[in-house]
Amino acid sequence: MCGIIGITSARGNVVPLVLEGLRRLEYRGYDSVGVALAGGGGLTIKKAAGRIDDFVRTSGVARLSASTCIGHTRWATHGPPTNVNAHPHTDCSGRVAVVHNGVIRNYASLREELEGRGHRIVSDTDTELVAHLIEEGLSGGLGFLDALARALSRLEGSYALAIIHSREPDRIYFARMRSPLILGLGEGANAVASDIPAVLTVTRRVVVIADGELGWISPWEARLYKLTGNGGYMEVPLEEVEARVKLVEWTPEAASKAGYPHYMIKEIYEQPQAVLDTFNGAVEEEDVERAAEVLASASKILVVGAGTSFHAGLVFTYFASRLAGVMTLPIVASEHKVYTPIVDENTVVVAVSQSGETYDTLESVREWAERGATIIGVTNVVGSSLDRESNITLYIRSGPEIGVAATKTYLSQIILLELLAVRLGEVMGALGRSEASRLLESLSRAPEVTRKAITAMEPLAKADARGDVGGSMYILGRGLGYFLAKEASLKVKEIAYMHAEAYPAGESKHGPIALVTRGFRVYILATSDSPEVAGNAIEMAARGGDVVVVKPSDLSLELGVKARVLDAPPTGGDLVLEPFSLIPYFQLYSYHAAVFRGYDPDKPRNLAKTVTVE
Ligand code: G6P
Repeated sequence: MCGIIGITSARGNVVPLVLEGLRRLEYRGYDSVGVALAGGGGLTIKKAAGRIDDFVRTSGVARLSASTCIGHTRWATHGPPTNVNAHPHTDCSGRVAVVHNGVIRNYASLREELEGRGHRIVSDTDTELVAHLIEEGLSGGLGFLDALARALSRLEGSYALAIIHSREPDRIYFARMRSPLILGLGEGANAVASDIPAVLTVTRRVVVIADGELGWISPWEARLYKLTGNGGYMEVPLEEVEARVKLVEWTPEAASKAGYPHYMIKEIYEQPQAVLDTFNGAVEEEDVERAAEVLASASKILVVGAGTSFHAGLVFTYFASRLAGVMTLPIVASEHKVYTPIVDENTVVVAVSQSGETYDTLESVREWAERGATIIGVTNVVGSSLDRESNITLYIRSGPEIGVAATKTYLSQIILLELLAVRLGEVMGALGRSEASRLLESLSRAPEVTRKAITAMEPLAKADARGDVGGSMYILGRGLGYFLAKEASLKVKEIAYMHAEAYPAGESKHGPIALVTRGFRVYILATSDSPEVAGNAIEMAARGGDVVVVKPSDLSLELGVKARVLDAPPTGGDLVLEPFSLIPYFQLYSYHAAVFRGYDPDKPRNLAKTVTVE
């Protein structure tokens, strides 16, 4: 995982911009941080285990000034998060400094080989080896780019690299293989980074670097090359680079907290707008109809994703069945190999990934595309690997999501996937024209339902979060409610650090109910397809469970027992609206529980927003 950045500018000191970029990249990992800058014939490196704010306070980095600087925020893979393992890493001479995101698979053999040739390797990281490989090329008389290309030809695995060299203080070299990397092209300033928000302080003109590309930037120039094998490379003509420039719509403000104490709460509040933007963008989108046609002609449909994106995929599975009568198989990305044997050229894959860079999701897409499957990617990031590797991409257009836990992108994914299910229902003939337009009309009300849910549920969620003292809980649902419960419980676990288990309410009698004694918290997430959950609520209450039912206010349930009922906005029994009514309570509950207990909701421990490792 990890985030990398490099900025070079003719307009003055870039260290504050690199630090700001690192703050925006912290969602990719935050166990160590570091920078390297060139000047005065040498390199200055500051790095430490821990969070960026402590680093800025204690390392003296804020007093440094340079026109060229690279930086790194780490999520440890090779070696624990220590000062020594923090990036940047250098070669034996201390003239080459490297920051890296990815995993070098042939680490062990390369290390042995380099040590055998006398290199002194001081960290446990795979990254350091890259610096030593470049050093070998340089001491063999190669120019920097040749030395870099030669070093890259020795690497197996994934990398996004930014590198500086003391002899060329105005340049940042870079390279990419299977880890995200973009160039930001500004006026008298250029940047390279893992993600777009990190370069928005420099420019909104962005080029997405492809696998196998390398190059360098100076304040005035950017050069791109592609590897041709065995250490060779050829230049990508400037016109081709220019043709790939995208002007990003995201503003610097969209990637800042804008007065909110945390990104997570800001992004929860942005949900009505995000859902509206997704809907408005997708409803006119021909690609949604094209995707529906492709799905309709498939003999098998697999739905794949990780974390929250997988949960959005489950909601698609639900509506594909309910609205279109189409069977789909939802698959957790890390388990994709199990299903590879059933994939063929008549298989269509719906791959859901906010970042478009999750390793397991991409691996499934790559493996299945090789077997002839057609890929429909659903992502928030234009130019991401998933975008480039899909036959059809559907963009959710939520704007940047910085909080590690997905919130607004989940509801955006859901509205887009619901729309896709409606279109699929139309193509399949399962939905008549009037039913389809009624559903579209319902979907258009989702932003308003979301807004009402946030306003109505926040005081309840806040009070509940303060009252609860941890421990364990079930979140039960049936039908759509069970799929939503999966996401609700993920939020509670990852943000509030409380054990929350989602279970199909009916199945809870087959084991889980054994844990329910006096005071055990059981949330019932009630959706209008499953009034039978009332029976499960009664069973849980009869065993002393502390039952809290979250339901749309107009869904009537015959509870007849002591259970607290939280009324979310009404949905008129319209299932497509129920995620928007019911989910905000659990997002807000998790957020307030974390804040109340002194946890950082934006950076939950051990997690990263984009998991780019196996
Ligand atoms: C990580 C994040 C989750 C996210 C998941 C999938 O686990 O912490 O918030 O849902 O990755 O990420 P993707 O970018 O593929 O949606």
